[in-house]
Amino acid sequence: MYRKYINFIRGLSVNRVGLTGVVLTTSAFICFLFFELLRISRVLTNAYIGLITYMLFPALFILGLILIPIGWYRYRKSRKLSTKEILAERFIPREMEARGIGSRVFVTVSIFTIINIIFIGAAGIRTLKFMDESVFCGTACHKVMNPEWTTYQVSPHARVKCVECHVGEGITALVDSKFSGLRQMVKANFNTYTRPIPTPVHQLRPARETCEKCHWPEKFYGQHLKILTRYDPDAASTRRYVTLSLKIDTGKEAAKGGIHWHIAGENEVRYASIADRREEMLWVEKRQPNGTFKRFVNRPYAGSIQTEAKERERDNTGIRTMDCVDCHNRATHIYEDPAHALDDRFGKGLIRPVLPYAKREMLAAITPNYKNQETALAGISAHLNGFYRRNYPQIADREQGTIDGMIDIARDIYRRNVHPLMKIRWGTYPSFIGHEKNSGCFRCHNEHMQDEAGHIISYDCTLCHSILAYGEDSPFKYLETPDKKSPQYKMHEFLREEFLKK
Ligand code: HEC
Ligand code: HEC
Ligand code: HEC
Ligand code: HEC
Ligand code: HEC
Repeated sequence: MYRKYINFIRGLSVNRVGLTGVVLTTSAFICFLFFELLRISRVLTNAYIGLITYMLFPALFILGLILIPIGWYRYRKSRKLSTKEILAERFIPREMEARGIGSRVFVTVSIFTIINIIFIGAAGIRTLKFMDESVFCGTACHKVMNPEWTTYQVSPHARVKCVECHVGEGITALVDSKFSGLRQMVKANFNTYTRPIPTPVHQLRPARETCEKCHWPEKFYGQHLKILTRYDPDAASTRRYVTLSLKIDTGKEAAKGGIHWHIAGENEVRYASIADRREEMLWVEKRQPNGTFKRFVNRPYAGSIQTEAKERERDNTGIRTMDCVDCHNRATHIYEDPAHALDDRFGKGLIRPVLPYAKREMLAAITPNYKNQETALAGISAHLNGFYRRNYPQIADREQGTIDGMIDIARDIYRRNVHPLMKIRWGTYPSFIGHEKNSGCFRCHNEHMQDEAGHIISYDCTLCHSILAYGEDSPFKYLETPDKKSPQYKMHEFLREEFLKK
């Protein structure tokens, strides 16, 4: 019974190429089934097994299928026989032909073809499904996606699949993404992609199809108290507080106000930016259903760059309606500022800055432009050990454990945020939440964005948050009795009144 299949397979292996094809196809098929079984029964759950099962085995299977006819073709050429003669020679001994066994070859070929089609179809579906999983997106092109994968796994969205933000809904989105994925795969293989991966990601689907599937834009968040712990670069690494009460939503007479005002259903904010980079604005406008329309123009750029603005408007290109990602551009791939990363770890008590100049020296250890990760990890250790050995030999002897702890934390921070292979350094991907270096909110909220009457988009310090402490030793300093001699007295008074009004 099985003999005829074995004979068939043997018949296909006409030469080395044919044999390789047969061996590849058969073993890939068996391995696929085997691993699939292990994955289904949850014996193996490792991400890389998925990569092998759904990418490698089907690829080898198809490669094998291609090799078989190539082998066959070369065999035919070298033997100078016709197909019929080879068929007769490989599968149908002459004495059998007389008894009408020839048609059995046809049946066998048909059976194998059907098995192949079913297998390729089923494996294809499994592969497509697997390609939607985050482990695939995050690890298939390991080196390229490593930074995004690293930041994603420690983010609030670590359980949200990459495709839920990057692909969105609908068949066009799916097809688009598969094509651009293919292009990216080719680029990754030929090493022709840009490093770092450029942002903004223009292909990102509108937030309506992604973020808003889970986050209801009309949800009321009210005010958020944010206590930021900061540590000075002095000998004691003195702890200080910056406390903000963020006015995310403050309903003014039923109309939505506050920070999420921009995304309220009734408000539309559109803008055009230089080279469509979303960094420097050309103009910003707001439109409301009651007919209010206002356009703010970036004054210093009046003149030459305004021509760009006019051209854009004429062609309707590069004009963007503000959505979640214009502020939450780092919703998932969150890169830290080096000083704030240290503040965060100290604040969480992962390590206490008990040694002299702990903050300053850890910062000095992680910020140099190291050539690669190995030199960085060695450099961090050399810097901290060196500093304490040179300047505080007794402490270094006594506190080697603490120094080692500091080295571990510093290395972790470095590994998470800096990826020399992808040319991602400190500050490569800044966040738009906040206004460090006048970016973020201050891209629009600044004195240069003026409407025709000369009104600006406000950057009043209390528009978005009240400040309850700003580098103070207590998180609610400005609610305590302020020191009248302090230069900040006026600000204290003002903030206190602000706070008491509520
Ligand atoms: C919660 C939504 C969300 C999820 C989940 C998500 N991303 Fe992103 N991703 C974004 C946003 C937003 C940007 C930034 C777009 C911009 O700056 O224009 C981005 C940017 C990127 C970039 C461009 C480089 C960069 O860091 O800005 C890459 C590459 C990327 N994501 C890959 C991934 C991969 C791989 C996964 C899954 C492991 C993933 N993303 C999961 C929202 C998401
Ligand atoms: C598949 C559902 C899903 C999608 C899509 C999604 N989110 Fe989220 N998001 C969540 C969940 C769940 C949380 C809460 C996580 C937690 O509380 O730990 C969250 C938390 C957040 C937070 C609060 C983060 C914090 O520090 O606590 C922000 C901001 C946010 N999402 C923005 C976005 C943006 C912007 C997008 C689109 C680019 C997006 N989300 C897409 C499910 C989603
Ligand atoms: C693309 C431009 C743009 C960016 C970026 C931007 N805003 Fe605005 N914002 C506006 C415009 C336009 C208005 C309306 C100004 C007016 O009517 O005078 C506004 C108004 C506001 C208001 C007042 C809303 C109300 O109640 O009337 C707040 C609060 C605010 N923005 C906070 C922020 C914060 C916080 C950020 C950064 C995370 C930010 N904005 C980033 C354009 C922007
Ligand atoms: C004008 C800028 C801006 C826009 C646009 C914006 N947000 Fe926010 N959002 C903020 C700021 C600022 C905060 C407060 C950040 C913080 O707490 O550190 C915030 C906070 C949040 C939070 C966290 C609230 C919490 O519980 O901590 C969520 C969730 C969120 N936004 C979702 C969204 C979604 C979804 C969209 C789009 C529909 C959106 N945001 C659009 C600026 C914006
Ligand atoms: C358009 C809205 C807006 C305006 C105007 C604004 N801020 Fe902010 N500010 C923010 C947001 C958003 C953050 C980020 C909060 C976070 O970290 O989540 C922030 C953060 C801060 C921080 C904390 C920085 C840190 O991380 O240590 C300070 C301090 C601060 N603002 C002071 C000011 C002062 C002073 C002014 C007036 C010149 C001002 N802000 C005006 C929105 C605004």
